[in-house]
Amino acid sequence: MTERDQSAGRFITFEGGEGSGKSTTTAALVTSLSASGLSVLATREPGGAPGAEHIRSLLVSGAVDRWDPMAEALLHFAARREHLEHTIRPALEDGTWVVCDRFYDSTMAYQGYGQGLGPVAVRNLQFVALGDFAPDLTIVLDIPPQDGLGREINSDASDETRYGRMGAEFHARVRDGFLAIAAAEPDRCVVIDAAQSLDDVQDAIWQTVSDRLGVTSHGG
Ligand SMILES: Nc1ncnc2c1ncn2[C@@H]1O[C@H](COP(=O)(O)OP(=O)(O)OP(=O)(O)O)[C@@H](O)[C@H]1O
Ligand SMILES: [Mg+2]
Repeated sequence: MTERDQSAGRFITFEGGEGSGKSTTTAALVTSLSASGLSVLATREPGGAPGAEHIRSLLVSGAVDRWDPMAEALLHFAARREHLEHTIRPALEDGTWVVCDRFYDSTMAYQGYGQGLGPVAVRNLQFVALGDFAPDLTIVLDIPPQDGLGREINSDASDETRYGRMGAEFHARVRDGFLAIAAAEPDRCVVIDAAQSLDDVQDAIWQTVSDRLGVTSHGG
């Protein structure tokens, strides 16, 4: 991880399979961090910058097999590069904390493991697109794929179903991928059991952020 300037914000990412609770808990963490007095930006991938949002629509809807896996990974990294340069890096340099719903571990898990591109290819693309830029903390929300897929979809864009339609074996590989990433990078990644109640998941997330990044709740 590149050490950020003391005055810079911290970069926290949420990762995990479909319906693991990323969007819900990202929003809750942003509320808690803001209440503790920090400047906080919530963002998500694919997307988070104008060009990246255009690319998002190419990735999250339509036929499951519409992209060759390498082309698909390149699209994710093209979007991510736009997101980093136009949104994430400027905010961090301003001292704003950035909380992101999915980041590069999703490409490793979905394209590297799920779609079979392999970890080396994805790691190489990551290095070309982002250099050594990395999150300060990554929360991996872990849940059996069928349980996550069975949760009520909490999205205003009901056509964003492409990854959800990729099948049980694909989603099992994605889950294995996230767990392998977390096991390989324990300084950056923390796995949280996302099958717990939402309150318990949120408590575990806040505990992790407090322990790892030294945030304390307002007045506490
Ligand atoms: N721990 C939990 N227990 C029960 N329900 C939960 C829990 N966490 C989230 N949910 C519910 O599950 C649904 C999916 O959550 P959410 O949209 O946050 O997941 P996600 O990881 O962002 O999904 P996606 O991958 O589709 O973007 C929502 O209806 C949410 O309220
Ligand atoms: Mg979501």
